Amino acid sequence: MADTSKNRFLIKTSENELLNQYWYSAATIEALVQEILSSASRVAFLSTPSVYFSLPKDSEVKKSSWVFDFDEQWRTDPHFCKYDFNKPEDLPGNLLNDFDMVVIDPPFITREVWEKYTKAAKLLLKNEGKVIASTVAENDGLLSELLGSKPCNFKPSIPHLIYQYNFFTNYKPTALAEKNPEIPEDD
Ligand SMILES: C[S@@+](CC[C@H](N)C(=O)[O-])C[C@H]1O[C@@H](n2cnc3c(N)ncnc32)[C@H](O)[C@@H]1O
Repeated sequence: MADTSKNRFLIKTSENELLNQYWYSAATIEALVQEILSSASRVAFLSTPSVYFSLPKDSEVKKSSWVFDFDEQWRTDPHFCKYDFNKPEDLPGNLLNDFDMVVIDPPFITREVWEKYTKAAKLLLKNEGKVIASTVAENDGLLSELLGSKPCNFKPSIPHLIYQYNFFTNYKPTALAEKNPEIPEDD
């Protein structure tokens, strides 16, 4: 298992089960950070706070990106936006059509919830925007239909979640093209 002590967000932030919070492992966050640094410049993090807060502090991508979440514990961050997936159109006008990537990990895996996240993602993304999404492998067809995405070789480690998730992207990934050594069945 990855060394949590290397990630400040994981050290400081406990999971709130009432909000279905399941953080990626430190190594999975690092792989996502590498993927984002090589593929995007302005990212909307929808329900993926661990990744936003793990971007290098002085990087241009960190300075340009925003985190969208229901949990207001991060409200003092100048790029935090309170977001309820049930109200996908309730987003600040100045952030619409403004991002070249969205990273999404909803608290639920149903079609209804994914349709709402898709609506928010399409409002926030510029044309041809990139998507990184995580959910169960069984949602492959659903994500292909909604977001035009395909499963990646790299599967996330989410230490306290009982299901094995996949990552899905709508573009050819770099860091996420490799298998994740944390996932035993991928050996
Ligand atoms: C499964 S966790 C995903 C976290 C991600 N794996 C990470 O490491 O950052 C679900 C996320 O959805 C957020 N969330 C819960 N209810 C929400 C709501 N109604 N609208 C938007 N986000 C919500 C939680 O706060 C949490 O960040």
